[in-house]
Amino acid sequence: MTNTTVNSLGIHDIALATTTFSLDMKELADANGVDVNKYRTGIGQDMQSVPADDEDIVTLAAAAAQPIIDRHGVDDISTVILATETGVDQSKSAGLFVHSLLGLPPNARVVEVKQACYAGTAGLQFAAGLLSRNSDEKVLVITTDIARYDVGSSGEGTQGAAAVALLLVANDPAIALLDPVSGFYSNDIMDFWRPNYRSTARVDGKQSVAAYLEATIQAVDDYLDKGGLPLSSFAAFCYHQPFTKMAYKAHKNLLHSHGIEADAERMEHDLAASTIYNRAIGNSYTASLYVGLLSLLDHSHDLSGQHIALLSYGSGCVAEFFTITMQPGYREHLRAADTQRSLAARTPISHEQYLALRNKPADDGHDREFDVQTTSGFRLAAISDEQRIYSTTIEHVGAATG
Ligand code: HMG
Repeated sequence: MTNTTVNSLGIHDIALATTTFSLDMKELADANGVDVNKYRTGIGQDMQSVPADDEDIVTLAAAAAQPIIDRHGVDDISTVILATETGVDQSKSAGLFVHSLLGLPPNARVVEVKQACYAGTAGLQFAAGLLSRNSDEKVLVITTDIARYDVGSSGEGTQGAAAVALLLVANDPAIALLDPVSGFYSNDIMDFWRPNYRSTARVDGKQSVAAYLEATIQAVDDYLDKGGLPLSSFAAFCYHQPFTKMAYKAHKNLLHSHGIEADAERMEHDLAASTIYNRAIGNSYTASLYVGLLSLLDHSHDLSGQHIALLSYGSGCVAEFFTITMQPGYREHLRAADTQRSLAARTPISHEQYLALRNKPADDGHDREFDVQTTSGFRLAAISDEQRIYSTTIEHVGAATG
C-alpha cells in the first residue's frame, strides 16, 4: 500500500565517476599560446577530464551509479531520472542504456531531463515529488555530461566531464535531508546554447558570467522571500562550477549584495572545499554542482546537523537556490578514498592525443567500432546500423530488461 507520509526525504547515497584520461592545463596553455596562470589562477582550473574513445555520458552515468547499486541493490528503485545536455539520441532516454547496463528492474520508469546545467537539480526535485507520493520507493538521479567547446576557443579551458549519481529516499536518508524551501529564477536568454547540428556549445562568455551572477541574486531573493534560512545559517556554500573561479565571483557578489563582508578568510571558509574536485575535472555541466557537493563532503570536517546552501545555474537560463541538512554519521557513507583514487588514476595525455580524440567522428551515423580504452567497466563498443552498442565487464550486470 502506498505510504504518503514523508518525514525526512533526501540523499541516501552519492557517487562520482569521471573519465579515463586527463589533460593538464599546461598542455593546453602551451598549445594555445596562453599563460598557464590564466587557467590556474584566472579561471581556477588545473586539469580537465577527457573522455576516452569508448566513453560517453552513458558509460560515465553507469560507472557513477554502479557503487550505489553494489551497496543498496536494485530493489525498490522505481524511477531513474538521467539529467544531461550531452544527449546521445533525440528520442530515446540515455537512461535506458544505463538501466540495461546496471540490470535495473523492468518495473522502473526511466526518463531523461534537460535544461543545461540546471537539469540535475530539476531531477532531484522531481524525485522529491515522486517520493512524496510513495515513500516506499527509491529514485536514482544521475547527472552526466561532457563539456566541449571549439578547439582554440576561450571556452576550451573550461571543458571537462563527469557523472554523479544520487539515490533519493523518503525516510531517514543516510547523507542529507533535502530541505523544502527553494528559490527559483528563469529568463529566456542566449548566453550559452548548443543547436542540434553542433557537437560543441555556442557561448557568449561574458554574458554568461553576468547572467549567472544576476540569476544567483534573483534565486536567493526568491528563497528568502519564501521564508528560507538567513544567509548566516550555512556551514558552506556549494555553487555550479563552470570553472571554479565562477563560484568565488558569484559568492562574493551575493555577499556584497546583502551587505556582508567577503574577505579572503570568509570566502575560503564558505567555498574552498567544494572546489577541489572541480579544479581537477573541469566543467561537467549538470553534474558540476554535485561534483562540488561531493568535494565539499569529502574535504570537510564533520558537518552533521549543519545546513549547506546549493546554487544550481543552467544557461538559457534557470537558477535554483536550495539547501540540505547533513545527517548524523553521513561521513561513514562517503567514498572519499575511492573518488580520490579514481581521479589520480586518470592517464595524463598530451595535446596531440587530446586532439586525436577530439577529431574522431563519434556520431556521424556510420558503422564503427571504438578503441578499447576505458577502464571503467562500461564502454561504448560500436555503432551499428545507427544503434549504440554498449558493453560491460561488471559481473552480475547485464541486459536484465531483455
Ligand atoms: P576569456 O576571455 O578567455 O578570459 O573568457 P578573460 O580574459 O576574461 O580572463 C579570465 C580571468 O583570468 C580574468 O580574471 C583575467 O584577469 C584572468 P577575472 O577578471 O574574471 O577575475 N587572467 C589571468 N590571471 C592570472 N594570470 C594570467 C591571466 N590572464 C588572464 N596570466 C570565460 C573567460 C569564462 C568567459 C571563457 O572561458 C568562456 O567563455 N567559458 C565558457 C562559458 C562559461 O563557462 N560561462 C560561465 C557562466 S555560464 C554557466 O555556468 C553555464 C555553463 O556551465 C553551461 C550550462 O549551463 O550548461 C557554461
